[in-house]
Amino acid sequence: MDPMSDVITVPIALDARSYDVVIGRGLLDQAGARIAALKPKGVLHVATDATVADLHLENFVASCEAAGLRAVPHVLPPGEASKSWRFYEELSERVLAAGVERGSMLVALGGGVIGDLAGFVAATMLRGIDVVQVPTTLLAQVDSSVGGKVAIDTRAGKNLVGAFWQPRLVLADLGVLDSLPLRELRAGWAEIAKYGLIDDPDFFAWCEQNGEAALAGDDKLRAHAVAHSVRAKARVVAADERESSGVRALLNLGHTFGHALEASLGFGGALLHGEAVAIGCCLAFDLSVRLGLAPAEDAQRVRRHFARLGLPTEPPPGVGDAAMLVELMGSDKKVADGRIVFVLARGIGRAFVARDIDPADVRALLSDALTA
Ligand code: NAD
Ligand code: GLY
Repeated sequence: MDPMSDVITVPIALDARSYDVVIGRGLLDQAGARIAALKPKGVLHVATDATVADLHLENFVASCEAAGLRAVPHVLPPGEASKSWRFYEELSERVLAAGVERGSMLVALGGGVIGDLAGFVAATMLRGIDVVQVPTTLLAQVDSSVGGKVAIDTRAGKNLVGAFWQPRLVLADLGVLDSLPLRELRAGWAEIAKYGLIDDPDFFAWCEQNGEAALAGDDKLRAHAVAHSVRAKARVVAADERESSGVRALLNLGHTFGHALEASLGFGGALLHGEAVAIGCCLAFDLSVRLGLAPAEDAQRVRRHFARLGLPTEPPPGVGDAAMLVELMGSDKKVADGRIVFVLARGIGRAFVARDIDPADVRALLSDALTA
């Protein structure tokens, strides 16, 4: 069988910064040849985390060696804490020590944490070297590896220091998802369903019908979910690469609430990013219903879908009070002219950016959610 036959390629059209997202099973084995075709200079730097290294680094390095590339791994601790100044410095120094030149390349082999961190190191290394994203979580395959947003977290909040730095190539191997824990798979699903909630009600209905089977391991359904999500993201990124026209901001559905919940818990893994997005989407629909914008049954559908897949739909204990959460939203990136920007919806598939929301309405919603 032609190993390339089940591969789906989604082009990201950005003029000189265009690249392909390649999706399929077994891509790790082809990674070396596909990366060698980009002609990286010197050693190939590979950033990964310890968990991914144990599971997939050997295969990846073997495929690089078979293609004549000398891969130098830089293994970092797993978890959001690696998206920090400390590990930005650590990875930068390791890359410099191992040898780097303008034509060098850094590969991000891992989830969104490694992708965002390595992408930011690549963006600033020698004022910019190439990065290839090899996402190993569902979340990273459908969202974070595509579109060039790279960042680290700071004391003041999440993703506050970063850049737009498009990869040269994204290789999403569906096979690596076999080792991903169910909780992480579910968290990735939140970002998949989000594309339906934004502007694609038919895809949300497809998610409702197929989500359980896809998470249970059906490869064809997974491939469809990943490819459909990447195509949706490709359209948004091509239309608004730097989030300047408001189109890309729609991808932040669920994130204003979600980031505040994550920040209140200290990014320690108590709440995964995708879980926070699931809760955030539920709250964004609740707020839309309260403001008379969306039908109540649509908010119920959103909550029912996430709950059926085992995702949380309400803020967990320990997130603090409503006033504190609204204050955290105020220090997020999603603030314009001093006002918190929300993505709300007129119904499933009808999301829009709202800049005039009264914080008192948000506090009231959160108070009720926290005491329910
Ligand atoms: P992650 O990178 O922390 O990965 C989750 C866990 O899964 C880690 O413990 C990791 O070691 C493990 N893991 C990864 N691949 C594995 C595999 N194949 N098998 C077994 N274990 C594996 O988290 P994530 O959910 O992938 O990414 C979350 C991050 O992505 C957040 O920091 C978020 O801000 C960021 N993000 C960025 C964007 C963007 O556009 N840049 C978009 C969405 C999210
Ligand atoms: N994940 C949000 C974005 O890429 O814009």
